[in-house]
Amino acid sequence: MPLPKAELHLHIEGTLEPELAFELAARNGVELPYADTEDLSRAYRFEDLQSFLNLYYELMAVLRTERDFEDLADAYLARAAAQGVRHAEIFFDPQAHLARGVAMGTVVDGLWRALGRSEETHGVSTRLIMCFLRDESAESALETLRLARPYLDRITGVGLDSAEVGHPPVKFREVYEAAAALGLRRVAHAGEEGPPEYITEALDVLGVERVDHGLRCMEDPALVERLVRERVPLTLCPLSNVRLRAVDVLSAHPLPAMLDAGLLCTVNSDDPAYFGGYAGDNFDAVRSALGLSEERLRELARNSFVASFLEDDEERRARYLAEVEAYEFG
Ligand code: ADE
Ligand code: ZN
Repeated sequence: MPLPKAELHLHIEGTLEPELAFELAARNGVELPYADTEDLSRAYRFEDLQSFLNLYYELMAVLRTERDFEDLADAYLARAAAQGVRHAEIFFDPQAHLARGVAMGTVVDGLWRALGRSEETHGVSTRLIMCFLRDESAESALETLRLARPYLDRITGVGLDSAEVGHPPVKFREVYEAAAALGLRRVAHAGEEGPPEYITEALDVLGVERVDHGLRCMEDPALVERLVRERVPLTLCPLSNVRLRAVDVLSAHPLPAMLDAGLLCTVNSDDPAYFGGYAGDNFDAVRSALGLSEERLRELARNSFVASFLEDDEERRARYLAEVEAYEFG
């Protein structure tokens, strides 16, 4: 039995496996510029975040109907559940779909067909977090929030993703203020490729409650001290960091130093279909590459539930935390 955990940094579009991409392409009459899954797999060698994003956005062309989004989410939830994920807070990128003529309702209703029954079908509770693309304009983000208004009963929070460098958090001050006024929780990617200053700005200007990645905080001891003091969770994605070359090799990942510093770290998969592993695979990889002890792994699992947006269901959080404490490593 795998260690129970919450996944807090997961882009649903990043769970599109090559096999499903071809299946959906055939179903929707979409032509992909790859001969087969093997040919496509060769495109999964990335130099940096942008080289990954190019493929990530290209393959989204196959996602067209509610059923496509439902199938995508169902496939992810089944894989995640098999790796011990008990709770998933799932990002989606509506602007990437709106730009292709796929409506907000198609995306949210489709995802919800899987998420709404996920506790029964997969034993996984879920939340949805709508991300703004930081390389699009602030006006586009505001328009996206406006389009999401009819669906806010199913959207827990907002996030910020896509190409980081050159797109500082402050660009999205207004839309985050509007999101807060609507009662939405706030997170943002910061310090993946961008500088530590973006992490500070995400906290001070956007009012985020969690930082996605946050890896580069380690360059600024005063920032680390603040993140520890304020108990700001970081949603780290070790296999993603290796594939996108934020770190050279997994054995050089700063996770142990971050835990030693007292940071509230969590381990997540980011875009598992692209980076070689789901949540449990990320746990297994850091365990063997970094030699993490069982108590460190338990701490990471505990942190994932502590950092989750389960304030509306503390009973459930307590149940999950009890599962973590009772877990016996094999
Ligand atoms: N979109 C999907 N995955 C991402 C990542 N790791 N960083 C920024 N944007 C993303
Ligand atoms: Zn991400």
